[in-house]
Amino acid sequence: MTIRIAWGITGCGDKIEAIVNLMIELKKKYGLKVDVYTSKNARLVLKWYKLWDLIKDEFYDIRAEVDANSPFLVGKLQTGHYDMLLVAPATANTTAKIAHGIADTLLSSAVAQAAKARVPVYIFPPDNKPGELETILPGGRTLTIYIREVDVENVEKIRKMESITVLDSVEGIRKAIEDFVNKKQ
Ligand SMILES: Cc1cc2nc3c(=O)[nH]c(=O)nc-3n(C[C@H](O)[C@H](O)[C@H](O)COP(=O)(O)O)c2cc1C
Repeated sequence: MTIRIAWGITGCGDKIEAIVNLMIELKKKYGLKVDVYTSKNARLVLKWYKLWDLIKDEFYDIRAEVDANSPFLVGKLQTGHYDMLLVAPATANTTAKIAHGIADTLLSSAVAQAAKARVPVYIFPPDNKPGELETILPGGRTLTIYIREVDVENVEKIRKMESITVLDSVEGIRKAIEDFVNKKQ
């Protein structure tokens, strides 16, 4: 049975390269049908990290946000076209919207409407625990960033939401997909 995933990518540079590589690896390993939905800012960030061409080469169906309802991802989620919605990586911006019930962008709206229809939703916000982390800038230099309290608080709010699973690492994304695949087989 083919698992169909709507994979939302936001304008988040942190972990983006590892995530794109993981998408490709898991798609091939498990024969997943992965359709990519990008926020308005994701394309720009993917281009900064020189990953846009790779995404275009590897994925057949790539839809860019026009507005909250276009492309009509919500319809596809609520009618069972996809087995899950995964937003990875999720910016602090998209995470904050979801935490506060705001649904005015493609991916924040998709999360809200999918959760309401009890479609499994997974989200990986890299800024998910207090402290510092090393991120890779476009071009390869590393930068230490200090996670803001407000961003962690937003993640904690989402952890309490029904139908939404917060993933804390890139390996956590792998495990969630592998568990999902094993459960469906
Ligand atoms: C190169 C680049 C890298 C970025 N990386 C991050 C990031 O790691 N985390 C984050 O929260 N925002 C990051 N941003 C800022 C977001 O793209 C910005 O807040 C945007 O409004 C997010 O919109 P979205 O959530 O709809 O994708 C980055 C921006 C640029 C240009």
